[in-house]
Amino acid sequence: MSEASSSSSRAAVILRGLPLLARELVRTARARFAGEPDRMRAALEWVLERAEPGRPDSVLEVLDEFARSKRFLMNVGPVKGLLLDECVERAGPAARVLELGCFCGYSAVRIARRLPQGQLVSVEKNPGSVEVARQVVDFAGLAERVEIRQGASSDEIPRLAGAFDLVFIDHHKPLYLADLQALEAHALLRPGSVVFADNVGPLFGAHEYLDYVRGCGHYETRYHRSTVEYTELEDGAEISVYRGPKAEA
Ligand SMILES: C[S@@+](CC[C@H](N)C(=O)[O-])C[C@H]1O[C@@H](n2cnc3c(N)ncnc32)[C@H](O)[C@@H]1O
Repeated sequence: MSEASSSSSRAAVILRGLPLLARELVRTARARFAGEPDRMRAALEWVLERAEPGRPDSVLEVLDEFARSKRFLMNVGPVKGLLLDECVERAGPAARVLELGCFCGYSAVRIARRLPQGQLVSVEKNPGSVEVARQVVDFAGLAERVEIRQGASSDEIPRLAGAFDLVFIDHHKPLYLADLQALEAHALLRPGSVVFADNVGPLFGAHEYLDYVRGCGHYETRYHRSTVEYTELEDGAEISVYRGPKAEA
């Protein structure tokens, strides 16, 4: 896609999203005025009050309900979540999975519920998110399968060791490319590792990342058209299979 057509489709998605943005601003202002906690803590309270402990699916349902009816949550959500589920299934029950960006723990629960013998390492920069996500994961009964590390991805990636079967990239969009290259440089990918990059649709302008995975020759890669979580706005996920470093000519 040319620069011009991608920025015009971005503008179109932004325009379509304006009513949603306005609704969210009103909801946030109302919640602040009513003295309600911030959205992460409010979501946690919602889970603790309404979900069934030890039942990950009920935690996901309750978080989806909160995001639709109360305040927007930037979870992967139930639609792109199905694509993520497929990748976890394919990686197998004992897979080793890395997540960049944990937020409230929604995707951590989604991933770990399908890893009965596996392990998820999730890297999250925001200490408030880490605190909420740990409680959500614990409530879902998955604490033993999930390690949430507090820190910035650029600091944590060099501290990790051993290849991951699946990497879910869902943190700060401008860091996607640098962090993918850091994963390669630190041998955290093996041939066959799958990299799932969320939010690479027109709204987010992930051109550099997409150009790299599509052009560098290290990946077999495909764009999956979808929608921004809890909306009808276009978004997409790029799912790429690492083939190993390109052989020198
Ligand atoms: C879109 S949310 C993650 C949503 C989560 N994966 C889910 O689907 O439930 C992005 C998260 O990335 C975190 N984040 C942003 N920059 C980061 C960085 N450099 N390292 C680690 N986490 C970061 C943010 O604090 C935020 O919680």
